[in-house]
Order: sequence, then C-alpha cells, then structure tokens
Amino acid sequence: MSKSILLLAALAAVAASSVAATDQELRAKAAAVGLQALPYGPQQPNDNAMTREKIELGKMLFFDPRLSASGVISCNTCHNLGTGGDDNLPTSVGHGWQKGPRNSPTVFNAVFNNAQFWDGRAEDLKAQAKGPVQAGVEMANNPEQVVATLKSMPDYVERFGRAFPGEADPVTFDNMAKAIEAFEVTLVTPASPFDQFIEGNDAAMTTEQKEGLNLFVERGCTACHSGVNVGGENYFPFGLIKRPGADILPPGDKGRFQVTNSVSDEYVFRAAPLRNIALTAPYFHSGQVWDLKQAVAVMGTAQLGTEISDEEAGKIVAFLESLTGELPKVEYPILPMETAETPRPQF
Ligand code: HEM
Ligand code: HEM
Repeated sequence: MSKSILLLAALAAVAASSVAATDQELRAKAAAVGLQALPYGPQQPNDNAMTREKIELGKMLFFDPRLSASGVISCNTCHNLGTGGDDNLPTSVGHGWQKGPRNSPTVFNAVFNNAQFWDGRAEDLKAQAKGPVQAGVEMANNPEQVVATLKSMPDYVERFGRAFPGEADPVTFDNMAKAIEAFEVTLVTPASPFDQFIEGNDAAMTTEQKEGLNLFVERGCTACHSGVNVGGENYFPFGLIKRPGADILPPGDKGRFQVTNSVSDEYVFRAAPLRNIALTAPYFHSGQVWDLKQAVAVMGTAQLGTEISDEEAGKIVAFLESLTGELPKVEYPILPMETAETPRPQF
C-alpha cells in the first residue's frame, strides 16, 4: 500500500471516529436534558389491566359512531388514525357541524402525557374518554343513552362480559371508558429516526436532523419539551416572554385558568408533546399556524425571547420530522349490528 493511501485510510478512520464521538456526545447531551427513546409496546395503565378482549372492545368503541347522538361521529372522526391521530383542522367540527374551540391533539402516544387535554384537565385516558362523548360540540350524547345503545346490541353485551369478567352489570359508561383506554394505550409509535439514533444507530438521523437536535437542546426547547413524549409533562404560560397575537392566542381561551381558577394559570397550557408533530398540522391549541417552521419561530419569540433564524428553524424542523415513528397498522373493525331497540340518531 502506498504512503498516500495509508494516510487517506488513517484520515478516514479519524473522520469516522470523530463523527462517532460527536454522535455519542449528542446522544449524551439529549439524554442529559431528559430526552429518551419511546418504549416498544404498550404501557400498563393504572387500575385497568390490559387484556386482549378489552383492547379489541376498545378498538370497536373508538371506531363506533353510534357513541354519538347523531350516530355519525366517532372518536376516529377527530382522531383519525390514518392522518396522524388528529383531524387536520384548525379546530374540530362536531355535532351538527359545530366548530369547537380547540385543535384536536393526536391520540398517538397520548398515554405518555402526564395529563390529557391542552389544559391537562383529565388525569388519564379513561377520565378523558368520558368527555367527548358528552361534550355538546363533540358527540353530544349522555351516559344513559350510550349504555342503552350498547345494551341494544347482543354482540356488545357479550364482549363487555368477556372484557370485564365477573361483573354483574358489565355494560357501563365507566367500562366503555376503560376499554377505550386499553385500546388507546396500544397506539404508540416507536422506532422514529430519533429513537433509533438514541438506541445507538448513528445513521438513523441525517446531519441536518442532528444539527436540529443540537439546536433544540442548545436553544432551551427541552426546558419544556422533554421526556419520553418530547413534551406533555408540564404547564407553562403560552407567551412566557412575549404573548403571541390574538390570532394565535385567542383571548377567550385562558387555558389552565379554566381548570384551577388561579390567576397565575391564565393562558397556561401543557407544553405540547412533539412526537409525530410533522403529521399534525395545524399547530397550537388554536390551530392557527399551518407551517411547522413558523410554529418554531413563534416558540422562539413567545417562550424563549429569541429570534430563531430561518436557517435554524429549518434545522429544528428537520429534527422534529425525525420524531415521526412507526404508526400502528390498525384494521378497521366490523361493528355489531343495530337492533330494533337501538336508540335512533338525533340531530
Ligand atoms: C382531546 C381521545 C372524541 C376532539 C383528546 C385527547 C384524547 C382524546 C386522548 C387528549 C389528547 C392530549 O391531551 O394530548 C378521544 C376519544 C374520543 C374522542 C377516545 C371518543 C370517545 C373526539 C371527537 C372530537 C374530539 C368526536 C371532535 C368532535 C378533541 C379535541 C381535543 C381532544 C378538540 C382537545 C380538547 C381540549 O384540550 O380542550 N381526545 N377523543 N375528540 N379531542 Fe378527542
Ligand atoms: C407548543 C416547539 C420551546 C412551551 C409547541 C408546538 C411546537 C413547539 C411545534 C406546537 C405543538 C402542537 O401544535 O401540537 C418548540 C420549539 C421550541 C419550544 C422548537 C424551542 C425553540 C418551548 C419552551 C416552552 C414551550 C421553552 C416553555 C417555556 C410550549 C407550550 C405549547 C408549545 C405551552 C402549547 C402552546 C399552545 O397552547 O398551543 N412547541 N417549543 N415551548 N410549547 Fe414549545
């Protein structure tokens, strides 16, 4: 081998090891601020044992529009599992084409959030699931009517019996919520390029994505967006440094203030979980920003008091795109047939 080839080989080895060292450093840096890989497989919820029967039933309920008063709106209407687990609208459209006040967050990985909703008003998924069924602007139903609907279909009665064995009256509103929770817990999206990088695969992220991750940490985004869901853990004023305009932060929605009635919670929202964020435009609880780069720039001025340059925002967006995981393949369930006893749709 000639001297120059040897030199080239040595240089290549140095370059390779320096890239590896940098990747290793970046991985350590991300871990130091609490970023971590998404676990494979479901997490056990508290006080709701997961069983095959319960998950299958929950899936049927998630897709069943007859949980709504009109008979046309299911959970999947606003949390479409084929479009990132949300509805791609600024704010959701529910019963009688009413426009709701907030953007629909994704149900994917929702199990990892500390609490549910933009203002964290539901402590877990089973508490959450009772909300939309009854909300006037969503499914506009009531627990009695839902139970009557479910009890009118023998297939459901049988399935509730198998999912909640030993219970004298298994078809209840509470059990509906528990079954839906069991299904939602399976809606996790592991193995994103970022997760694979954290697992040790240097090639999983592009250079631009790595630069973006570095900026995400350096700029302080991780002060609020960290943990397994890259957010969804804590509450902060939206506009901590500078309040965004009324178009992005409508004055009528005071966030956690509506939950706690404490003045210090005015315009406080849960730091949004950022997994699969590239799939869930438009952004913010108001759903008024369609462009992810613009959302990043808004975060810079509103939360950090810094102007993020267009180039930097582009890199951060590249990193955010590396948070898109493997979406579960969900087979559309065949639902039980209605009977003469099934309550008729109400508009
Ligand atoms: C919030 C599940 C029905 C629109 C949520 C969240 C979950 C969820 C888990 C919280 C996610 C998070 O905080 O990150 C369900 C289930 C449903 C259902 C299981 C069926 C029982 C609907 C329907 C609509 C809708 C039919 C639209 C008409 C929304 C909106 C939010 C939300 C706008 C955010 C509300 C807020 O923060 O105040 N849903 N959803 N959901 N969902 Fe649903
Ligand atoms: C929401 C990114 C820094 C708190 C968001 C969203 C993105 C984002 C893309 C929209 C999520 C969605 O619509 O689902 C970033 C980036 C940051 C950063 C790239 C750094 C440049 C921060 C910091 C804080 C924070 C430092 C806390 C002080 C929040 C809150 C929301 C949010 C509370 C929800 C806002 C709402 O109510 O709509 N962030 N963020 N973020 N972020 Fe950040």
